[in-house]
Amino acid sequence: MTSRRHHLPVMAAEVTALLAAAPQGVVIDATLGGGGHSAALLEASNRHRVVGIDRDPSALQEAGSRLAPFGARARIVKARFDELAAVISAEAPGEPVAGVLFDLGVSSWQLDEADRGFSYRFEGPLDMRMDPDEPLSAFEVVNSWPAEELAALFARNGESRFARRIARGIEAARPIETTTALAETVRAALPGPARRGGGHPAKRVFQAIRIAVNEEDRQLPAALHDALRVLSPGGRLVVIAYHSGEDRAVKSILAGAATGWCTCPPGLPCVCGAEPLVSLLNRGARLPSAGEVAANPRAASARLRAAERLQAAWREPSGRNEGGSHGRS
Ligand SMILES: C[S@@+](CC[C@H](N)C(=O)[O-])C[C@H]1O[C@@H](n2cnc3c(N)ncnc32)[C@H](O)[C@@H]1O
Repeated sequence: MTSRRHHLPVMAAEVTALLAAAPQGVVIDATLGGGGHSAALLEASNRHRVVGIDRDPSALQEAGSRLAPFGARARIVKARFDELAAVISAEAPGEPVAGVLFDLGVSSWQLDEADRGFSYRFEGPLDMRMDPDEPLSAFEVVNSWPAEELAALFARNGESRFARRIARGIEAARPIETTTALAETVRAALPGPARRGGGHPAKRVFQAIRIAVNEEDRQLPAALHDALRVLSPGGRLVVIAYHSGEDRAVKSILAGAATGWCTCPPGLPCVCGAEPLVSLLNRGARLPSAGEVAANPRAASARLRAAERLQAAWREPSGRNEGGSHGRS
C-alpha cells in the first residue's frame, strides 16, 4: 500500500467565504473526504456547525481525526449523498440548513492508495468502490459488461472518439485483473498518434468506470434536488465538479432552479406561476487561480458553481425543463 498523503481542499478560500456568509445554522458537507473544507469553515465561522457525509469508511476515519478539535460542532455520518434528506432529519431536525457543499469525485489519497484500484498509475486490483460494502466493483464492469455498454459508458464520459475501439480491446483482453493491465489494454487499443497526446490515454476510461461503479451520475441529480429543497432561505449550495458531464448536470439543475423550473416558451413572459427558487451567485463557473493550480495540479479541472436559496416554496422540478425556459444560466 502506498503511504497516505494529505488531500488539499480545492478552492478552499472561495468555498469558505461563500458558506461563512450564509445565515446561522447547520452546513452539510455532502462529500466530507478528509474534512479539509469543513475544517476551514469551522475555523472561519463560529455561527455554523457541520454535518459531514461520506460513503467511504476511510474518509470518515481521516475526517474524524481532522475535525476532532471542533468537538460537537462537527458530526460525521456514513451515508451516500443521495441520502442527504434522511441524514438531516436524523442529525439536525428542525435546524435551519445554512449550506450544502458538494466537492465531487475522489480524494487524492483514495487515488493514491493502490489497493483501492482507482488509479492507472499504481498496480492494484480492479476495485474503485468508494464504499467497499457495495456489491459492484470495476472488475465486474470491465470483465462482464457487453462491449456496447462499455462503449456507451466511455462515450458519455468523454472518450467518444475511440470508445468502441477501447471497448472491443477490453473485451478481447478478458479477463483483466489489475489496474495496470487495464491501462495497458486501453493504450494498446488506441491508434499510435492518440497514445501520444496530453495526459495518460487511460485517464478518462478509468474515470468513466469509476463513475459507473459508484453510480455517480445517477446519484448527483437526486442529491442536488434534495439539497435545494432542504436549504433555508439565504442558505447556500456550493458545488465543485471536475468532469464536464458532472458540471453540465450541475449547471442545468441550478439554471432550472433559478427559474423555478418555468415551463413557458423561451423568450416569453412567465405565465406558469413558477417562482425562482435560487439566485445564482456567479455568472458561469468559477475556476481555481493559476497559483492554486500550480500548487495543486488536481485543482486544474475544478469548476465551482454556487446559488443562494430564495423564499419561494419548493416545487417538484418538471423533468422536461431542467434548464428552465427563460434561458438564465
Ligand atoms: C474530492 S473528495 C472531498 C474532499 C474534501 N472536500 C476535503 O476537503 O477533504 C470527495 C469525497 O466524496 C466522497 N463521495 C463521492 N461520492 C459520494 C456519494 N455519492 N456519497 C457520499 N460520499 C461521496 C468520496 O468518498 C470522497 O471522500
